[in-house]
Amino acid sequence: MKDFKVTPWEVSGEVDYEKLIKEFGTSKIDAKLKKRLESACGGELHPMLRRDFFFSHRDLNLILNDYEKGNGFFLYTGRKPSKGMHIGHLVPLVLTKWLQDKFKTNLYIEITDDEGFLHKKEYAWKDVQQAAHENILDIMAVGFDPQKTFIFKDSEYIRNAYPLLMKAARKITNSTVKAVFGFTDSTNIGLSLYPAYQTLPTFFEKKRCLIPCAIDQDPYWRIQRDIAEGLGYHKTAAVHCKFIPPLQGVQGKMSSSAGPETAIYLTDDENTVKKKINKYAFSGGRATVEEHRKLGGNPDIDVPYQWLSILFEPDDEKLKTINRDYRAGKILTGELKGMLIEKVNEFLVEHRKRKEKMEKEMELFMYKGKLAKSMWEKSYE
Ligand code: TYM
Repeated sequence: MKDFKVTPWEVSGEVDYEKLIKEFGTSKIDAKLKKRLESACGGELHPMLRRDFFFSHRDLNLILNDYEKGNGFFLYTGRKPSKGMHIGHLVPLVLTKWLQDKFKTNLYIEITDDEGFLHKKEYAWKDVQQAAHENILDIMAVGFDPQKTFIFKDSEYIRNAYPLLMKAARKITNSTVKAVFGFTDSTNIGLSLYPAYQTLPTFFEKKRCLIPCAIDQDPYWRIQRDIAEGLGYHKTAAVHCKFIPPLQGVQGKMSSSAGPETAIYLTDDENTVKKKINKYAFSGGRATVEEHRKLGGNPDIDVPYQWLSILFEPDDEKLKTINRDYRAGKILTGELKGMLIEKVNEFLVEHRKRKEKMEKEMELFMYKGKLAKSMWEKSYE
């Protein structure tokens, strides 16, 4: 077994997701639970659920119980601002939108400008704020309901949330954050407090909270689940996805810190996407066309195929055909890359068109929409 590591700050090696479920103490989203979710949402599941890209959960069954009883639930997810937002960051948001559309729930999106500043030593405060502004536009472009979604920056909502933050902080010890996050004596004290803030939105309503995120964020939910009931709230539920791999191969995760040639950014123009995929995307194809025609390619390690199967080819039948024909050597590496380039560019062009219209919507999502307004009127005793 190859070594791998998954923390909120580092993902490396070839992740064994089954093993991670055991290590983290989460549960698999199995066929039975998928069926239940399907009947609750009254239609086909999102491809990322159908294909087990969202593979693990905590208490999704309790969310469905609450939903079936008519108690409802709410959604929460987040983003640490950084200059480059890549398609990996979009994945949990795409599922979040699907869940909001299906279940008509309130949604809270935490923009952790504090975390970004504390974590990225090279960023000045104003760099984080600029990045946050751009990231918020990208997040809104995913298409959430502006009346049922509250997007907030930690540094702003602290005005209302401080008492709640202190209540959570009083229950989290240094030894806990040291054990969970590996903090040492040289970790800045801001980072030691930050985990309390990431648990906070789970306490915004008395209903149960469901968090779509990649599995790297789960350590925060373990802390939340330790303190929630003592504060009079539910333990949070979560659905966890795997990582979109970087272009270079199915190891680790797509990440901005690994260098611009490893990720596709939401700002990459059509030519850049084409160049990056053609030049860098790791292929499961053979060394020569003759060999490939004879022996076929391996989609399991082929990054373009993996990306198609995660997000860019929603049609199951088409994907099956691509898989079969690639294995049979009928589709060549260049052709497979061509398919992905077309899909990614279509997706990004549409995304950027939506983003252009978002500047004037920002007020609604952050301050003036129905949910946002009620959150600014709220005080936490
Ligand atoms: P951040 O900004 O690093 O990541 C935002 C979300 O994207 C997920 N993610 C990925 N998913 C799939 N493939 C990838 N290659 C990939 N890279 C990142 C992350 O798991 C995350 O869900 N501390 C958080 C911010 C935060 C948050 C939250 C995230 C605050 N509250 C609630 C999720 C849910 C952070 O640094 O995320």
